[in-house]
Amino acid sequence: MMHYLFFLTIIIGIYCSCASKTQTKSNEIHNGKLIYNTYCISCHGILGDAEINGAKNLIISTIPTMEISDRIANGKGTMKAYSKLLTEEQIAALVEYVITMRKKQ
Ligand code: HEC
Repeated sequence: MMHYLFFLTIIIGIYCSCASKTQTKSNEIHNGKLIYNTYCISCHGILGDAEINGAKNLIISTIPTMEISDRIANGKGTMKAYSKLLTEEQIAALVEYVITMRKKQ
């Protein structure tokens, strides 16, 4: 009986920790979308493929995660640096959202 309760507790524990991780990730993507709609839509458009002001198409972009956050933090060309305007958490949320915009291969 004790064994049964022990394993049950572990299984519930594992389930809860996985569920909350998924929750955190989807919250982050949701926040990323809100920030994107405020700061990024004017050049990249609602879907990421507008290419206004020479903006790169985010749907076909293949640059790695590190470069996405570098581009947002430090800017390039007509895209300005957002490191003073946004927190690291906001930039991380944007990175997660920008990746979800990519065309599924
Ligand atoms: C004033 C227009 C403008 C705004 C606003 C803007 N961008 Fe950009 N973005 C650009 C331009 C132009 C490039 C291409 C830079 C280059 O490589 O020369 C670019 C490139 C990028 C890239 C790199 C894509 C690749 O494949 O190289 C990412 C990622 C990106 N932008 C995300 C964002 C995010 C997220 C925001 C909002 C915080 C944002 N941009 C706001 C104009 C803009």
